[in-house]
Amino acid sequence: MQMPDGLPAEIDLSRPSAARVYDYFLGGAHNFEIDRQLAEQIAAMTPNLAATMRAGREFLRRAVRTLLDAGIDQFLDIGSGIPTVGNVHEVAQTANPKARVVYVDIDPVAVAHSRELLAGDELTGVIHGDLREPERILAAARDLGLLDFNRPLGILLAGVVHFVPDADRPGEILATLRAAAAPGSHLVVSHSTFEDQPQEMLDAQRLSARTDTEITLRSRAEVTSFFGDWTLLEPGVVHMPLWRPDSPSDVDEHPERFGAFGGVARYDQPTA
Ligand SMILES: C[S@@+](CC[C@H](N)C(=O)[O-])C[C@H]1O[C@@H](n2cnc3c(N)ncnc32)[C@H](O)[C@@H]1O
Repeated sequence: MQMPDGLPAEIDLSRPSAARVYDYFLGGAHNFEIDRQLAEQIAAMTPNLAATMRAGREFLRRAVRTLLDAGIDQFLDIGSGIPTVGNVHEVAQTANPKARVVYVDIDPVAVAHSRELLAGDELTGVIHGDLREPERILAAARDLGLLDFNRPLGILLAGVVHFVPDADRPGEILATLRAAAAPGSHLVVSHSTFEDQPQEMLDAQRLSARTDTEITLRSRAEVTSFFGDWTLLEPGVVHMPLWRPDSPSDVDEHPERFGAFGGVARYDQPTA
């Protein structure tokens, strides 16, 4: 793989990275042998997982389009990964060429690739940040000057909150992010779950302990709690394929097999 410029010297290439394993599953080229080995091992245990990751990306696209239809033209995408084809700024700027997107990821390789891919695009920005430090992310986003926090914002947390263990208080992290947003803002969350899952899926998820970012599976009720008092859009927090599918034929009889819930909520102006 071609190394991006500006890659920090201290990155540990002896350990797989969640972002690069994910990139491999999506068919991207930004991964190393160590990532491909883990990906293949996971795929052998649960052939469904690659499809799960694609279903996650499809959910994100549908959610972003819904936000665009609601007039959202600025996005804070935390845990954005490596921007392979069809990423948030492409979906957003196809609908609205002036849409702004700030990408945030903990993985230095994902960040370096993002910076390289987005160089020269003045409507996008990239932050190396940790969801567990939401104030720092918000401060860095404000410093970039791309997003206006006094206007409705789309906060995207697709496939990332499950990397935050309970000990790091994900509920408080989400509350901090929601508190920074103006009325009319929308929050998108997709999150892995143990609900309705076969044992092999649970075993495969346990392999994530080998990356720097272990996964915590959560219930539908826990995922729903991340939206706080914001208004959940129909159909609520559901298995990802059930969230506003483009076509009924996109949903087979086992939407739970992708192992993750998705939902979108809107911050309605509190009435006095
Ligand atoms: C499964 S990928 C999801 C990528 C993208 N959001 C999507 O849905 O297509 C998860 C991403 O979250 C990143 N990540 C994990 N823990 C994080 C944290 N604490 N802060 C920021 N990013 C994190 C990983 O590096 C990875 O790129």
